[in-house]
Amino acid sequence: MFKGLFQNTKNNSTKIVNIEDLNPFNIPKHVAIIMDGNGRWAKGKGLPRIAGHRAGMEAIKRVAKAANKVGVEIVTLFAFSTENWKRPENEVNFLMGLPQEFLLKEIDELNEQNVQVKIMGFDENLPEHTIKAVREAERRTEKNTGLILNFALNYGSRHEIVHATKSIVHDVLEGKITEQQIDERLLGQYLLTKNYPDPDLLIRTSGELRLSNFLLWQMAYTELYFTSAFWPEFNEQHFIEAIYDYQQRGRRFGAI
Ligand code: FPP
Repeated sequence: MFKGLFQNTKNNSTKIVNIEDLNPFNIPKHVAIIMDGNGRWAKGKGLPRIAGHRAGMEAIKRVAKAANKVGVEIVTLFAFSTENWKRPENEVNFLMGLPQEFLLKEIDELNEQNVQVKIMGFDENLPEHTIKAVREAERRTEKNTGLILNFALNYGSRHEIVHATKSIVHDVLEGKITEQQIDERLLGQYLLTKNYPDPDLLIRTSGELRLSNFLLWQMAYTELYFTSAFWPEFNEQHFIEAIYDYQQRGRRFGAI
């Protein structure tokens, strides 16, 4: 049983939220997550930053379980951005080793939970061992039919849109498509998310209130949810609260 205090952002009332409070007919299909605050969590405990990233992997396991339980179909996690290369070399190297450490260690449990692991991002600059580990995890879970756990790795939204634009120009010049065919739907087909619906809900942890170049095109109508919890603290209860908050929103997609 999940229990926690839910602060209604509209009228400031508080309510205890548990999983039974969720409307099973209004579960977000696709939840995107910016896993932020690993470094600050570690610092607060007097630990090196990489201890925060390691603790963050436990949070990924908790969220995958919770998402499966409530019926979310896709969780897209911002694991490494095209801007994260600016971090100190030792931290980048550590982050590049995490897919091996996490995916290969957890693969049996992920398979037991029927989870499909997917990787979304640009292979350029990624070390060979990282690419190998993620491809192997994809291969070993490709027959599963449950939650899609989609890791955005070396991903940046502007880079993705530039890449899509170049591919469209290329295909027009090659005569594969015409200029008249270019519309929002077609552009979406050139993005890395072409197989997924747009996120219904974005969760960002650690109290930061920005999108940081994550899924900018795809999140035009996504509901945004920010929590002050650091990512390594994030648990099933936080996830349930985010979904409950989402269910209080009226989504109009520009209509009245
Ligand atoms: C942000 O916290 C977190 C990251 C940049 C990396 C998140 C990655 C993981 C939790 C693991 C990914 C796992 C796999 C399998 C790919 P921060 O370091 O920016 O924290 P800070 O803002 O407090 O410094």
